Amino acid sequence: MYKERILVLDFGSQYTQLIARRIRESKVYSEIFPYNAPIHKIKSFSPKGIILSGGPSSVYDARAPLPDLRIFELGIPIMGICYGMQIMAHCLGGSVKKAAHREYGMAELFVDDKRDIFRGIPERTIVWMSHGDRIESVPSDFKPIAHTANSPVAAIADKGRKFYALQFHPEVAHTRKGPEIIKNYLFQICRCRPTWTMKSFIKTASQEIKDKVGSKRVVCGISGGVDSTVTAVLVHKSIGDLLTCIFVNNGVLRTGEAKKVEETLRKHFNMRIKCVDASKRFLAKLRYVVDPEKKRKIIGNEFIKVFEEEARKIRGVEFLAQGTLYPDVIESKPFKGPSATIKSHHNVGGLLKRMKLKLIEPLRELFKDEVRILGKELHIPDEIINRQPFPGPGLAIRVIDHVTKQRCDILRKADAIVLEEIKKAGLYTELWQSFAVLLPVKSVGVMGDERTYENVIAVRAVQSLDGMTADWARLPYDVLGKISSRIINEVKGVNRVVYDISSKPPSTIEWE
Ligand code: XMP
Repeated sequence: MYKERILVLDFGSQYTQLIARRIRESKVYSEIFPYNAPIHKIKSFSPKGIILSGGPSSVYDARAPLPDLRIFELGIPIMGICYGMQIMAHCLGGSVKKAAHREYGMAELFVDDKRDIFRGIPERTIVWMSHGDRIESVPSDFKPIAHTANSPVAAIADKGRKFYALQFHPEVAHTRKGPEIIKNYLFQICRCRPTWTMKSFIKTASQEIKDKVGSKRVVCGISGGVDSTVTAVLVHKSIGDLLTCIFVNNGVLRTGEAKKVEETLRKHFNMRIKCVDASKRFLAKLRYVVDPEKKRKIIGNEFIKVFEEEARKIRGVEFLAQGTLYPDVIESKPFKGPSATIKSHHNVGGLLKRMKLKLIEPLRELFKDEVRILGKELHIPDEIINRQPFPGPGLAIRVIDHVTKQRCDILRKADAIVLEEIKKAGLYTELWQSFAVLLPVKSVGVMGDERTYENVIAVRAVQSLDGMTADWARLPYDVLGKISSRIINEVKGVNRVVYDISSKPPSTIEWE
C-alpha cells in the first residue's frame, strides 16, 4: 500500500483519467472513485488530498451529480476542477450561473495571488477552458486568486481549509503550467512526497504477490502482448518457479509468434512455460463460421477449455495471474466507448469457479503507458514493450468470411510482409496498428501470359492514441508500392492489394 495517495472523484469529465495520470507522473499514487463514493470508502482510502474532476453537468440541474458532502469536513485539502469548482462553490454557499459566453479553448489566465497553488507560475499564462457556467458569488471564506477576460473568477481559494478550485483544466497539455500547478497542489498543499516510482511499485507489488501466494502455484496465460508478458515477468520475479505460464497456439496467430513468445520468456527470463498447440482444435471449431461475433465467442470459449485442461495438469495451482489494467477496473466510466469492453474476450469467471482459483492482477492499478515503463524496468525487450496491439481472436477476424488453415496461411505470409516493410521504413512504432486482411473476393489478374483469378489482400495501417478513434495512416507511396509488389510476387494465391483509407469512426480498425 502506498501511504501518500490522492483521490480523484469522477464527475464524468473526459479528462478524469488524465488527472490521475498527471498526479502519478509527479510520482504520487492516485486513484479514481465515482463522484458519489460513500464517505466510509473515501476515509478508508485515506487520501492526502481529494480532487473533484470536471464533468458535463450543470450544478443547477435537478440531477446534478453531488459528492458526499462530508468530504468537506474531513480536514483534507480539496481541489475542484471546472465542474468540480462549481460543485464546490455550490455546496459551500456560493452561487453558480450560466455564463453569457461559453468559454472553450485557450485563454489567458491572470494570476492575482502568486502563492501556494500558483507558486512559481507567471502572472500571465495560457490555460485550457471548457465551461458554460461560472461562479457568480464566491462562498464565504473563499477568495478569488485568478481571472481571465471572460471569467472574473477563474480560481478561488479558502486557504484556511486548504480548499482550492480552478475553472480551467490543469491536467490538459494545452494548460502550459498545468504540471507545475498540479505539483504545487501535491507538494505545497497536500504535503505529499514524490515517492511513487516504478522501482517502488515493483518492490511493493512483488511483496504483495509473495505474501498472497505463499508456497502455492500460479498459472498465467501469455499471448506475447505487453500486458500478459509484464504480468508474467513481474509474478516470476516475485515467486520464481511457482509460476507456470501457459501459451495456447490457437491456429490464428501471426508467423513465428508462438516461437518468439516462447524464446523471449524462456531464454530471457528462464520461466516455466507450457506451449500448447491447439490450432487444429480451434480451426475445427471455426469451420463454416462466418459471423465475427461467433468467431470471437468460439475462440474465447475454446481458449478457456484448453487453458483449463493444461492448468489441471499442474498440481497445487491456486491462483490465476491476469494482466488486467486500471482503465478496466475504474468503477465509473461515463464515457466508456464500445471498444473498451471487447478487450476481455477471455471470460475467466467460469474457470475461476470450476477450478476454485483466486485471481492475481498485479497491473490493476496501472495505465497502459505505466505498464510499458514497468516492462522496461523489468528488462523486457523493446520488441515486446513497443508491440502494436493484436486482437485476441487474431487472424480469425482478419480472414473475412470462412476461416481455414489455407486462408490463414495466405494471410500470415502477406501480414509478415506488411510488418517487415513497415519496420524497415521505421514506421512501426509510429502506427497504432498495421496489418493485412484477406478478403472474401477474387479478382482477375495477369501474370506472365496467364490470366489469374485470385485473392485480394487489403492493407490496413492506422494512427490512434487509444484505439477508440483512429485515422488511416498516410503511408509513403513507395512503402505501399513495396508492400504491394512483394505480396503479389511472394504470396501464392494473391494477385491484388488494396489500401484501406477509412478512419474510425465510422469504420472500425478491424474489418470484423
Ligand atoms: P475496432 O476494430 O473495434 O478495434 O476499431 C479497436 C481495437 O481493439 C482491438 N480489437 C480486439 N481486441 N479482442 C481483442 O482483444 C477483440 O475481439 C477485439 N476486436 C478488436 C483492435 O485490434 C483494435 O486495437
